[in-house]
Amino acid sequence: MGTIDRSQLLAALEHERALYRRRTPESSRLFGEARHLLGGVPMTWMNKWAGGHPIYFATAKGNRIIDVDGNECRDFALGDTGAMAGHSPDATVRAVRHRIEDAGGITTMLPTDDAEWVAEDLLRRFGMPQWSMSLTATDANRWALRIARLVTGRNKICAFSYCYHGAVDETLVRMGPGGATIEREGNVGPAVPVAQTTRVAEFNDLESVERALRHRDVAVLIAEPALTNIGIVLPEPGFWKAVRDLCDTYGTLLLIDETHTISAGPGGCTKAWNLRPDIVVIGKSIGGGVPSGAYGLTSEIASRIMSYPEADLVDVGGVGGTLAGNALSTTAMRATLSEVLTDVTFDHMIELATRFREGVEKVLTDTSIPWTIAQLGARAEYRFLAPAPRTGTESAAAQDDDIEQYLHLFMANRGVLLTPFHNMALMCPTTTVADVNRHTELFGQALEAIATA
Ligand SMILES: Cc1ncc(COP(=O)(O)O)c(C=O)c1O
Repeated sequence: MGTIDRSQLLAALEHERALYRRRTPESSRLFGEARHLLGGVPMTWMNKWAGGHPIYFATAKGNRIIDVDGNECRDFALGDTGAMAGHSPDATVRAVRHRIEDAGGITTMLPTDDAEWVAEDLLRRFGMPQWSMSLTATDANRWALRIARLVTGRNKICAFSYCYHGAVDETLVRMGPGGATIEREGNVGPAVPVAQTTRVAEFNDLESVERALRHRDVAVLIAEPALTNIGIVLPEPGFWKAVRDLCDTYGTLLLIDETHTISAGPGGCTKAWNLRPDIVVIGKSIGGGVPSGAYGLTSEIASRIMSYPEADLVDVGGVGGTLAGNALSTTAMRATLSEVLTDVTFDHMIELATRFREGVEKVLTDTSIPWTIAQLGARAEYRFLAPAPRTGTESAAAQDDDIEQYLHLFMANRGVLLTPFHNMALMCPTTTVADVNRHTELFGQALEAIATA
């Protein structure tokens, strides 16, 4: 079996860091001169890129980014899914331009007919008949959790260890010793200890789900159909059918967050795997880069929530936001869903991700390195262990910052961008076979430099 030579890895990492500094002097200068931004960047996550400073970009179109130093990158990060439709897709740009330049009214707190078109299309995709809009998936999740608590009269939620659903207080959890619900490492200023709001379970572990639900105080189980934010952890056969049954047994609603897993197809895993959620959340990709999100409800939940006179849905009751559902966002969603993230483009993206996965698998076989790659439709991700992890906790334990930084820099220095948070690659409508082949070639070279037989 091949192994990673640690001293070779550290030397190679240093070499790649130096190369990165040489290739990106203008990005480095701009970062060094940013004195009034917390952490030097407009949003602190942008410090996650390997190499000491982020790449500042000059232009972005489709899956190509040109940085301020003139380097061209094939972008597999795609804004961590926000740009899954490709950067500035033509149809979205046309619609947004019309809204801004001709029709006017970016945000008015008044609806346009685009919103109903979008809701109907989301029904076609995910099967939920009633939708409400947000500007982020975080907000859609927050509001949906409130609705679930209201209609069930229960105050707790259940979430999987190492899940991620945005900056949603109740979900920043992991499983501690003895199955205890504990905070994710680094949780910033939690309002209350997370165990007060949440019962934790392990993905692919039905016993742990039942342990969490059998108290009958859990309003809703919130889940990605496959974990995608701690590497990709795929569900085992029968897992979702059994979770649905447990939810029904214990009176818990099931919220499926498709924000990343829409990569599985036009209707995400909900459609592809015939899941039966009570609530679906979607965000990031559907506005083609313009802030957009939504939650969808079954008719039953929708009519129940409208029947609580004491629940203030139209003002300060805790759901909704001033700019949510604005005309710019809804026109961007309509154009992106109708003309960019279509059924046909999904076929193309999924074919490319399959090629991506097969290329990586071949390199791993050739080098005998015991890593794995998981594919979820148009998305694929490698993880530094084999067999593939079954739970978020297992996947978290396989994290290896040195390898990850090295691979990210090796790729970035040769014009390929991976998602900075892990090793995720996403295909967009304009990704090509040549782009995927280039990644495979670089992956082989990167491993060759640090592997020993
Ligand atoms: C599954 C999932 N849900 C929700 C979110 C939150 O999205 P946003 O940060 O756009 O609110 C994320 C972000 O990564 C996510 O991966």
